[in-house]
Amino acid sequence: MKITRRSALKSSALAATALALRGSHLFSQAATGVDAHIDILPSEPIGTISPEIYGHFIEHLGGVIYDGVWVGPDSKIANTNGIRQSFIDTMKAVQAPLLRWPGGCFADSYDWRDGLGAADKRPARTAFWGQQDSNRYGLHEFMHTCRAIGCKPYLASNMRSLPARDFYQEIEYCNAPSGKVPSNSAAPAMPNSLALARGANGDVEPFNVDLWGVGNESWGCGGNLVPEEYAAMFRRFTAWTPSYQPNPLRFVAVGPNGDDVDWTRRLFKSLFSNSERRHIFGLSVHYYTSGSPTAFAEGDALNFNGDDFYDLLTRASIMERVVTDHWEAMGQTAEAGQPRVKLVVDEWGAWYGKGTALGPNYNLSQQSTMRDALLTGITLDIFQRHADKVAVAAVAQSINCIHSLMLAQEDKFTVTPTFHVFQMYLPHRGAQAVRAEFSAPAIRNPLANAPIPVGGNSYTGSLEAVKLLAGLSGSASISPANPKQFTLTVVNPHIDQPVTAEIAVAGAAIASSTGTVLAEPDMHAHNDFAHPNAVHPNTAIMTSPAGGRLTHTFPPASVTTLQLTLV
Ligand code: AHR
Repeated sequence: MKITRRSALKSSALAATALALRGSHLFSQAATGVDAHIDILPSEPIGTISPEIYGHFIEHLGGVIYDGVWVGPDSKIANTNGIRQSFIDTMKAVQAPLLRWPGGCFADSYDWRDGLGAADKRPARTAFWGQQDSNRYGLHEFMHTCRAIGCKPYLASNMRSLPARDFYQEIEYCNAPSGKVPSNSAAPAMPNSLALARGANGDVEPFNVDLWGVGNESWGCGGNLVPEEYAAMFRRFTAWTPSYQPNPLRFVAVGPNGDDVDWTRRLFKSLFSNSERRHIFGLSVHYYTSGSPTAFAEGDALNFNGDDFYDLLTRASIMERVVTDHWEAMGQTAEAGQPRVKLVVDEWGAWYGKGTALGPNYNLSQQSTMRDALLTGITLDIFQRHADKVAVAAVAQSINCIHSLMLAQEDKFTVTPTFHVFQMYLPHRGAQAVRAEFSAPAIRNPLANAPIPVGGNSYTGSLEAVKLLAGLSGSASISPANPKQFTLTVVNPHIDQPVTAEIAVAGAAIASSTGTVLAEPDMHAHNDFAHPNAVHPNTAIMTSPAGGRLTHTFPPASVTTLQLTLV
């Protein structure tokens, strides 16, 4: 994305003293002129935007599963078979395409058999994150969660502490058909014993899980492996697995922490060092944005100033570099004849330090403000701009955790500003991404003087500081149902400055437009249990297109979705 095309780069000098509170009068401020341009280029298609980039992730961590997703069938809290109703409804409201489980780091010490059978007979186990797991929420409860939402399950397997046999038997348990299965030999057709066990546990019909993570963060909590060791494990785990569907299972290999390109290069070299064909659909990428410019998983979710705001969004924008770096690295080591491996960004979001958790037992829970809404828009726009590369993504994590869409505690519940952005970006699902040029003065990152901490739970590294944040960024797509209908999403990160842009579609004229905007006078604005609707989107104030072009003012610190209809 080009930051400036028509305008000379000028620092907007929105540095240290950026206002924490803005007067609401700023929203009614009339636009004085055009200070940015957005040129949509329909003749430059990027790819179909995979509906699976709007995915979600849950693991047994703090209040995510117990009290978040799972309240139990006997709870006075509204539920469907024990699953919190408001969780189901919210995931439906964003048309969640997939849900990843059981981890995260939790996955690599989790035994899927522990969560099967009579609830009161399941073993309580010591689990990752210094927790105990009653195993009340197990494989069937997870599948029922996905069914209730209407989304696909994405299972992460335990590669660190269970052998390959458990991996393929978990596949067999999930996917073997009910009834008699042809033996493909001289023996008669017969029922599969794991399918029978699944039926005895309440689900006769297969779960048909096609997306499988082969381990998680194997460089860290998933085994402290080096790429060559992990590649050998991946080859062994995937060399043979049961197959019941015409399409091959989609295996996702553990990718880098942050932007560790060395991991990806060495992994791919090693994966293909054995000449057998590899069954690899995607490379998992985890990129978190720390709440602090100098330390990983630090900083306050609620208490931040303008410098922190710009710095965090600048570091979030590095996702673009992470995507392109690893795409290039995979391309260099790709095997001829092997389908192009896609990127699966299955953990992303802003990760803050302690201080805004719902309660002492809600490890890693954090509040979520307008700042996080902008991060969400910036990230989804990056995935959409790279629709040819990013096939799947999952925000970490759906409820009561890092970068959540929902916060819940007993009978209290609220959605966060991030939820609204997911909803506002729905028109891009399955649409044709096309290139769009954004020309706007960039913002100088006031804190770009230290290496950027990157990492996950068990490993941290750093990237060199980034000095500029795009003054306006976004993405464009053409509706699959109507070639004259375009969706344009735009983030204006200026804390106190509206940006007026002239929007044009090359070779075509805009006839009409509608819009939705998420903007608040205070960048700290958030929802809580007492004020669950404090932050919500509004209908955007539109002007009429003139000469086939639209002039639109994007309010300060806002996320906007525009629907453009061509003549
Ligand atoms: O999402 C929290 C943790 O972050 C996950 O368990 C792990 O994969 C990552 O380090």
